[in-house]
Amino acid sequence: MKSSRTPTSLILAGLLAFFLSFAGLAAHAAEGEMSKESKACLSCHDKDVMTKTLESGEVLSLNVSTKAYTESMHKKTDCEDCHSNLDSKTHGKVKTAIKSKREFTLGMRESCRDCHKKKATEYDDSVHAALIKAGNKKAPLCTDCHNPHTVRSSKIVGPIAETPCAKCHEPIFKAYAKDVHGQERIAKGISAPLCAGCHQAHAVKAASMGEGVKDTCLACHKEVVKQHDEWLPNTVRHFEAISCPVCHAPDAKRRVNLRLYDSTAKRQVTEKLGVPKFEKRTDTADSKDMGLDERALWSLLKEFNQDGGDGKMLLRGRLEVSSGVEAHQLSEKSKALKDCDTCHKQGAAAFQSVTLTIAGPDGRPVRHGVQSEVLNSLTSMQSVRGFYAIGSTRIKLLDYLLILVVLGAASVPLVHMTIKRLFKGVRQKLEAERLAAAQDLGKQASTGHRQGADDASK
Ligand code: HEC
Ligand code: HEC
Ligand code: HEC
Ligand code: HEC
Ligand code: HEC
Ligand code: HEC
Ligand code: HEC
Ligand code: HEC
Ligand code: HEC
Repeated sequence: MKSSRTPTSLILAGLLAFFLSFAGLAAHAAEGEMSKESKACLSCHDKDVMTKTLESGEVLSLNVSTKAYTESMHKKTDCEDCHSNLDSKTHGKVKTAIKSKREFTLGMRESCRDCHKKKATEYDDSVHAALIKAGNKKAPLCTDCHNPHTVRSSKIVGPIAETPCAKCHEPIFKAYAKDVHGQERIAKGISAPLCAGCHQAHAVKAASMGEGVKDTCLACHKEVVKQHDEWLPNTVRHFEAISCPVCHAPDAKRRVNLRLYDSTAKRQVTEKLGVPKFEKRTDTADSKDMGLDERALWSLLKEFNQDGGDGKMLLRGRLEVSSGVEAHQLSEKSKALKDCDTCHKQGAAAFQSVTLTIAGPDGRPVRHGVQSEVLNSLTSMQSVRGFYAIGSTRIKLLDYLLILVVLGAASVPLVHMTIKRLFKGVRQKLEAERLAAAQDLGKQASTGHRQGADDASK
């Protein structure tokens, strides 16, 4: 019957149309959230292949994918929220000049701040932001780590290679990927830290300054002080004087880092932006570039003290690995360094490489070599605080005294008196050196060697 078949097919056709349009609607739902203005932008920017040649010769792709954009965390954000500086009358019709990709990125850098104040403030305090301020052309801005048009939720855990840190710190990334945390992360996901898990994503600080990332390690490995205490005497002291990778990256080279420290302000001395003194002074004090010797180190300390420290500038020693890559070669615990002799032995390799450091204006360490014999000298014992490894120096008697200190608190007053007497001779020697150094300085100044603009010590 014709009349009865027609309604059925009509209904079927209607249903089909209904489902089809529903599917279509779903596909367009996300795009539907997009404002008319944003759609207008995409009508050009997601059509043909669009590029722009910049003055530097670089080619900037101008395509923005509607699909990726509607799947991104910014799907509800209008293009113009970030691109408010475009001239709607001339845009797309009149060509504008852009110097380089970097200039373009720098020009857009403030566009995130309004909506992400907290992250922006954290970032402002980072070593990366300080590097940008100092004119570094390779340090990251927000968009070097987040593509604003495709950004996904940070809760999505991707492969480790997707971390934005990898592209700029490739050698470190490669080392990390093979070490205990990289391997654990690949096998089990987020329980093990990726770069930001130890360094933070935004408030990234120079790694070897301050306490480094030690506190972050302890936040995850809550039991470690107790665990080390079972075999390592005075673990807390060891942890302060030794960076964790020194023992946990067993093949790493090690070095002693003497850090210039302001004992009144209780922080490391930082170079002021624009008035660097450290390099000039170390270059003067070590004109042959053989490493600072005992006397040079001493008069350098004196100069820094005259800047306002008033006898409060010290050197604080710390044992660390000698490169950034080695800090990311942590092995399983069975390979860790346990042998006391590695450090507590005359001529221990770890103590043969010594550097003096100050925090540069961007927070990164500025270093200068120091002759390793300095560690053996009594003169520097006066200024090198909080760093003395039993047996690693030639001062046998002091070794003995330190062992006494460690063995029994009862003997402490006695030991102090003995040390005082011992140091009497040392102090006289020091006084003579002090005089010699002062005379030296005087001579150099009068022959015009030290006429630098930084010469505030006179
Ligand atoms: C959350 C802020 C934000 C939103 C929203 C945004 N953009 Fe961008 N856009 C930027 C930033 C920042 C840059 C510069 C990127 C860089 O540093 O290279 C940029 C760059 C561009 C470029 C130059 C090519 C490129 O990818 O670098 C085009 C074209 C562009 N955006 C178009 C759009 C369109 C069209 C929309 C809306 C669909 C949009 N943008 C939405 C922030 C945004
Ligand atoms: C009529 C097509 C068209 C529309 C609509 C359009 N653009 Fe463009 N856009 C262009 C062309 C063409 C260029 C390259 C201009 C040049 O070479 O100087 C461009 C360049 C850009 C650039 C690169 C920086 C610059 O100043 O050259 C950005 C960012 C951008 N457009 C964003 C947008 C946004 C956001 C919208 C919507 C508010 C939009 N565009 C709408 C055609 C268009
Ligand atoms: C107009 C406001 C606005 C601006 C400007 C803006 N964003 Fe966003 N951003 C948002 C919103 C809204 C979300 C989604 C937040 C959410 O759902 O928690 C978001 C999410 C993000 C996320 C993902 C957060 C997560 O949960 O993982 C990142 C990363 C991000 N934005 C980076 C940027 C960057 C980089 C810029 C500058 C280029 C920028 N945003 C500019 C509004 C903005
Ligand atoms: C050096 C790379 C880097 C830079 C630069 C950077 N971020 Fe991030 N950001 C990350 C990483 C990695 C994450 C992943 C989450 C985490 O581990 O904290 C993230 C997460 C975020 C989130 C989501 C945070 C959350 O807790 O939900 C927002 C929003 C964000 N960044 C915005 C910004 C803004 C705005 C800037 C610029 C001021 C910026 N980021 C600069 C690497 C960076
Ligand atoms: C398990 C914690 C941890 C993880 C994960 C980690 N780091 Fe480190 N990072 C460190 C330690 C520790 C140091 C050395 C600091 C010290 O001397 O005390 C360091 C140092 C650095 C330095 C400074 C190197 C130098 O030359 O002084 C950079 C850059 C760095 N890390 C980047 C990264 C990047 C990129 C990743 C991810 C691929 C990463 N880190 C993952 C702990 C970590
Ligand atoms: C766009 C490139 C870029 C990205 C992305 C980037 N960095 Fe950096 N970072 C630099 C540059 C350049 C320096 C300066 C030191 C250098 O040249 O290695 C630096 C310095 C550092 C330092 C201080 C090094 C020191 O001497 O102590 C640390 C730590 C660091 N980055 C960690 C990270 C982490 C963690 C991430 C990811 C969340 C990251 N970086 C992403 C370019 C980048
Ligand atoms: C003097 C060398 C030394 C230093 C410094 C050191 N470790 Fe260890 N660590 C070891 C040795 C050796 C073991 C293995 C002990 C054993 O045989 O059980 C170990 C074990 C560990 C373990 C495994 C604990 C367990 O029993 O499961 C962790 C985690 C660890 N260390 C983290 C750290 C952290 C974090 C730091 C820095 C704060 C640090 N270590 C500093 C030598 C050291
Ligand atoms: C986000 C948490 C987290 C942080 C931060 C972290 N670790 Fe780990 N670490 C882990 C996890 C998870 C494992 C693998 C499981 C295990 O052995 O405990 C691991 C494994 C280790 C191991 C191997 C232990 C073994 O049993 O063989 C050592 C050594 C270690 N970490 C040292 C460090 C040091 C040093 C730091 C700081 C520079 C650090 N960790 C920072 C989570 C963390
Ligand atoms: C990686 C090098 C290293 C290893 C391995 C090491 N130490 Fe030390 N140790 C040091 C340094 C550096 C100091 C100096 C700490 C300070 O005074 O600042 C120190 C200090 C000490 C002190 C004096 C602590 C105090 O209370 O002032 C004793 C005792 C000691 N170590 C014993 C040991 C014993 C026992 C072992 C082996 C189980 C050992 N150390 C393994 C580097 C090491």
